[in-house]
Amino acid sequence: TRTIKLAVVAGDGIGPEVVAEGLKVLDVVLEGSDVSVERTPFDLGADRWHRTGETLTDADLEAIREHDAILLGAIGDPSVPSGVLERGLLLKLRFALDHYVNLRPSRLYPGVATPLAEPGDVDFVVVREGTEGPYVGNGGAIRVGTPHEVANEVSVNTAFGVERVVRDAFARAQARPRKKLTLVHKHNVLVHAGHLWRRTVEAVGAEYPEVTVDYLHVDAATIFMVKDPARFDVIVTDNLFGDIITDLAAAITGGIGLAASGNINPDRTTPSMFEPVHGSAPDIAGQGKADPTATILSVALLLEHLGLTDEARRVFDAVAADITERGTAPRTTSEVGDALAARVATAARVSG
Ligand code: IPM
Ligand code: MN
Repeated sequence: TRTIKLAVVAGDGIGPEVVAEGLKVLDVVLEGSDVSVERTPFDLGADRWHRTGETLTDADLEAIREHDAILLGAIGDPSVPSGVLERGLLLKLRFALDHYVNLRPSRLYPGVATPLAEPGDVDFVVVREGTEGPYVGNGGAIRVGTPHEVANEVSVNTAFGVERVVRDAFARAQARPRKKLTLVHKHNVLVHAGHLWRRTVEAVGAEYPEVTVDYLHVDAATIFMVKDPARFDVIVTDNLFGDIITDLAAAITGGIGLAASGNINPDRTTPSMFEPVHGSAPDIAGQGKADPTATILSVALLLEHLGLTDEARRVFDAVAADITERGTAPRTTSEVGDALAARVATAARVSG
């Protein structure tokens, strides 16, 4: 038997509601297998900050490090100043645990409402760099509040950081049927970082002769994502461009309620963290209205990362079937979770 030590950060707003459904499905998919889950809840987020002024202490971080994976709901609340929890908790976890691959798959399931008239067959994955770029906090401001204020946010791109994420993206492209990789950047303007990314893709690409390589400036990429998203297979891009285009990717594939993500350390030296792309949605918190599908898909990514590929497949298949058949009648958070858990329970195991 194998025990997975799972750190659970339910967080704020709808976080606890959607995480409950994710855990429900996780339990069901592992039922009758020789894998069990040992969960540790972590009290992190807005409530903790209000009570203690703490976001993520060294002790929290060391305790989380002892786990095999993290399931995170959502972080953020309007009662906390903007940036405090984002930087002090969410980004701190991604940076401290060296989650350099922020994996964000987008698939348009049959039957899903999309704002696109002719979407085509949409199935791509964005490999967003997770530890560098403008997110590192390398910047500062002088003469704040005066007409002469200068505010800098410096995008940090290292050869080491770019190469490792580009390698991961090529490996993913190589493993997919279409074997295509698109670098998204803006090297006509951001010449320093842009050319580092371009040269790195060229160099690593030489090791992957079967992978077709393509380049788009980020502005043009947004046009293609609306006009012809089926052209994308694997996209590799920096932290901020990746943040922006993955919201667009979610919008064209059924919305943020379906968008899952993994903050992954491919070297497996730290626990990877799986979370829905959506935020804490305080306006609908506690009403059972949130769609837990994105969290449940994030659980599938978690299972995949842990090598439980059959279990992951059963969750993905259950979601695909549910989405295709869900229709327009509104369901509560737990109704969606129950429906997916029921489908997972009846889906046949390949082995065992
Ligand atoms: C996301 C979010 C975060 C990000 C914020 C909340 C820090 O928008 O996960 O996409 O910018 O990465
Ligand atoms: Mn975002």
